Amino acid sequence: MKLINVVGARPNFMKIAPLMSELNSHKDIETILLHTGQHYDEKMSNLFFEELGIPKPNINLGIGSNSQAKQVASIMEKFDDVTDSIKPDAILVVGDVNSTMACSLVAVKKGIKIIHLEAGLRSFDRTMPEEINRIVTDSIADLLFVPSRDAIDNLKKEGIDESKIFLVGNIMIDTLFHFMDKIDNSKILNDYNLGNKGFGLVTLHRPSNVDDPVILENIIKSLVDISNDIRLIFPIHPRTRKNIQTFGLTHLLNSNNLILTEPLGYLDFQKLMVNSKFVITDSGGVQEETTALKIPCITMRENTERPITAIEGTNEVIGRNTYKMKELANDAINGIWKDSIIPQYWDGKTAKRVVKTIKSHFGLI
Ligand code: UD1
Ligand code: UDP
Repeated sequence: MKLINVVGARPNFMKIAPLMSELNSHKDIETILLHTGQHYDEKMSNLFFEELGIPKPNINLGIGSNSQAKQVASIMEKFDDVTDSIKPDAILVVGDVNSTMACSLVAVKKGIKIIHLEAGLRSFDRTMPEEINRIVTDSIADLLFVPSRDAIDNLKKEGIDESKIFLVGNIMIDTLFHFMDKIDNSKILNDYNLGNKGFGLVTLHRPSNVDDPVILENIIKSLVDISNDIRLIFPIHPRTRKNIQTFGLTHLLNSNNLILTEPLGYLDFQKLMVNSKFVITDSGGVQEETTALKIPCITMRENTERPITAIEGTNEVIGRNTYKMKELANDAINGIWKDSIIPQYWDGKTAKRVVKTIKSHFGLI
């Protein structure tokens, strides 16, 4: 069986790492790793390959940044040529970024099977580019691997045949558990003189939070306010950095207790998460990792496609309510947080389940 694994943006790399490693011991599947180049900065791409031991991609489409439509179009055009020359039996796409949907659209038009890992998540907010990517990809996928039961219900409601859906757990948690010793060895706490549980971690990049100058200014002012009570460390995503500069908000971030950094590598970022008092975020993956690590998570979004992190995990989804953000940060500082459990199958064995199901589906076992 010839399989192309597709990655493109930061959250894809921690999802593909355990799969590449598991597939390595199944020689009856010829695996080709393709990077679309949607993310390309050293700290948004290469660094993760080095840290997580992901093999160098066999192909890099090098598409870079552009408008939503142009980015999707150029991925499709280039991926079309690649599939002509490689002739894969199937492609495997992860998550919900533009690369996920663009490659899936190319595959379905050519009768190439599509395997979607992290299927079935829905925010029910079609203003999110990712929601469109999720709906389109799932509607044309042949095998849908879901991380939690809610995702099965979402897919069934959209008329997807239950025989295509497999509950395999959360692939990101495979990576988190696998790299725990290396995470432990990170020196980032010393680098920034941070004590265990003496700080909060911040990450923001959703267009709904960072593309509007008034909203972004309001969030930044609230972060500075919280930083009067506890130190905050904020590794800034390139979209957010660009907008802070364009909107002339840089001066607002001038606070001794607010540490600003470039995007961080996986090991350093997880080390901060494990040792933080709380995390303020709008990231999808971070909502899941905080649940797996039982770290209080304050999500600045009106909705989440990962409701299990709020129902069973440590996540509080609070919209853009900055008063609530401050209140919850105070609760976390005082050690007050809801009880939580780690969802079913978020156990570090998802890659094994995925590969076993692929082999059985494609008649290899
Ligand atoms: C993308 C995904 C989003 C995911 C996020 C993870 C889509 C629609 N969005 O959002 O789901 O949560 O990645 O981080 O696929 N840029 C750089 N260097 C890079 C990459 C981006 O400077 O290596 C800047 C460019 O100015 C670019 C902007 O960031 O225009 C946004 O990048 P893009 O990939 O379009 O979307 P993200 O916001 O990163
Ligand atoms: N992450 C990281 N360094 C950072 C910020 C995030 O390694 O500076 C990790 C994070 O722990 C998670 C993944 O990147 O594993 C999530 O990616 P991102 O937030 O960019 O995308 P999303 O999950 O929102 O699509």
